[in-house]
Amino acid sequence: MGSTLVTGGTGTLGRAVVRELGGDAGEVRVLTRRAGGVPPPARSSIGDLSTGEGLAEAVDGVDAIVHCATTNGRGDVEATRRLVDAALRTGRSPHLIYISIVGVDCIDFPYYRAKLATERLIMGSGLPWTILRATQFHDLLTAVFAWQRWSPVGLAIKGVSFQPIDTRDVAPRLAALVTEGPSGRVRDIGGPEVIEMRELARRYDAARGRRRRIAAVRVPGKVAGQFAAGRHLTPDNAVGSITFQQFLADDA
Ligand SMILES: NC(=O)c1ccc[n+]([C@@H]2O[C@H](COP(=O)([O-])OP(=O)(O)OC[C@H]3O[C@@H](n4cnc5c(N)ncnc54)[C@H](OP(=O)(O)O)[C@@H]3O)[C@@H](O)[C@H]2O)c1
Repeated sequence: MGSTLVTGGTGTLGRAVVRELGGDAGEVRVLTRRAGGVPPPARSSIGDLSTGEGLAEAVDGVDAIVHCATTNGRGDVEATRRLVDAALRTGRSPHLIYISIVGVDCIDFPYYRAKLATERLIMGSGLPWTILRATQFHDLLTAVFAWQRWSPVGLAIKGVSFQPIDTRDVAPRLAALVTEGPSGRVRDIGGPEVIEMRELARRYDAARGRRRRIAAVRVPGKVAGQFAAGRHLTPDNAVGSITFQQFLADDA
């Protein structure tokens, strides 16, 4: 079995990917900026995509790279370029698997523009590649609702729905792509249900035993319109099996 590097293997999705690869996938290495936080048998490889430090050692001898790290739009393209350059220098052409977001080519959001530019960089990198686009993770939506937990009124964006997916559904797909080999742009992956944001907020409150009014606020502008038009949804690829309700129950 080969050796796989997971960038962002300490993050929300990356941790699930590392668990998924844990079995017979060979050596699993996690690129991280700090020591600790990587459960054995995976091992950490200290490095920083923003400076390039440690990347040569991290990619040395790997057959596949699952690229889950994100600098949240600030330098994501440059970070990926450093990773690609380090991988090319090994002379082994490792398979680069990238996790992107459904609708990055149709929504004019700065983070999505960076994801799209990163996809293009990977496609032209000269490395064998696979790109999987997923919908929003349950964790992201709960983080949005958690920010407003002290507010007497919950806020949701009027007319916007989400199709949240569980990282426990995305991770096995990424692990399977390691085994399947370079596949180009594969079918998008989305959660099991498309639900209005207001209803998601209501379910979040209910799971925490809270009752308050949820106000649906109209948000003007192009990006809000693109979300309202559902460009971030993929109802034909509702392959995730874990619902938001189930995630909330597990999280409680
Ligand atoms: N959240 C969503 O709803 C969603 C939906 C679809 C796709 N995605 C994509 O899925 C991927 C993972 O998202 P996530 O929410 O799981 O991320 P996350 O929890 O925010 O984790 C970010 C990871 O990036 C690593 N990282 C950040 N800066 C780094 C640097 N300079 N050098 C090396 N590593 C660095 C961090 O590692 P250390 O701190 O250990 O260094 C951490 O493991 C992202 O590409 C995101 O765009 C997310």
